[in-house]
Amino acid sequence: MKAITLAVNGQTVSAVVEPRQHLADFLRETLGLTGTHLGCEQGVCGACTVMIDGSPSRSCITYAIACDGTDVRTIEGFDDDALMGELRCSFSSHHGLQCGFCTPGMLITARDVVRRLGDVDDRIVREELSGNLCRCTGYVGIVAAVRGVAKGKLPQRDPVPEASAASTAPVMAAPAAVLVAPASAPGTTAARPATPAPAPSPPRSANAAAWTALEQQVDIDADPAAVWNALRDVRRVAACLPGATIDHVEGTALSGHMTIRFGPIKTRFHGDGIISLDDAGRSGSISGAGRETGGSQAMGEVNYRVLGGAAAGTTRLHVVLRYQLTGALAQFSRGALVQDFVRRMTEIFAANLAAALNDRAVPARTATDVNLVTMVAGVLWRRLRNLFVR
Ligand code: FES
Ligand code: FES
Repeated sequence: MKAITLAVNGQTVSAVVEPRQHLADFLRETLGLTGTHLGCEQGVCGACTVMIDGSPSRSCITYAIACDGTDVRTIEGFDDDALMGELRCSFSSHHGLQCGFCTPGMLITARDVVRRLGDVDDRIVREELSGNLCRCTGYVGIVAAVRGVAKGKLPQRDPVPEASAASTAPVMAAPAAVLVAPASAPGTTAARPATPAPAPSPPRSANAAAWTALEQQVDIDADPAAVWNALRDVRRVAACLPGATIDHVEGTALSGHMTIRFGPIKTRFHGDGIISLDDAGRSGSISGAGRETGGSQAMGEVNYRVLGGAAAGTTRLHVVLRYQLTGALAQFSRGALVQDFVRRMTEIFAANLAAALNDRAVPARTATDVNLVTMVAGVLWRRLRNLFVR
């Protein structure tokens, strides 16, 4: 159990939560905010979308403990919001809802689209809403509703410090296990953040328990000594990692960027890191933090160890990755599909490294970007295979 304090719809909330409780359950079951709907609970449908620190996020794949110190706004927190009022009317007049199950998440995403992009065409609305699924409407009414509200509007460049709902939000009924106080109440120890979270500090933060951890072993068709020698050269490592580029290395410090495409999301992370190597143990670690073009932040640490493989002249690489995302991409902190995605990245890295060490051509996908069609197909194939092999 872990104590957290966050702002929910302008109210400071302190509670003790299970480490694996997701934010949606916390909002619905602990705070009674059932306007946040749960559909897939896999990060796919978007029904559970809420705002976290000014960015739409999937509350079903965001740990509640990862929201310690954040500003969360659910659909209930938009009762008096003028733009949301416009969207509600427009959804109604354009028949943008039928059963209404997707509507809270759809409205929260739509409001973010209008604020961020202003007047937008059909294509952009469809792309921006592609993470919110509706089983009823066929989307035509939804797109028309959003365009109707966006028409003539200019982007609002600084969407995060928008007007707080603190002064108008009703006081939430406090379940026994939860302490709720107005954000401005005297004696409140955890202030509701009015600005985005500060830039990420290097890993091993106080909230490291909220990190997502992945552990993987991959076999590489090359001698352990050659593999270790290659892993000592970060530029060589980056050359085998799809989308990664090292910009600068000085001693143990490095900086670089990574281009990632995942479904409708295409983004680029810039980050700094520290590398440490243990030649005797043939192990190393890279820890660092970065920021992507959309404002999300990441921090993480990868530890790896080179071991002898099952056959002579082969290597087993043991990798442990721990990371945390904040901002819009925080929705992927717990996504099973993304964990598969990272595993697939590791496999591609291992295959590319083996190819490079054995003087075979490294596939073109290592150049600058990730072929997500291939990658997602690989992820889906693995899931299907596991389903039938079980
Ligand atoms: Fe479907 Fe969260 S419930 S994305
Ligand atoms: Fe029913 Fe969208 S209105 S799921």
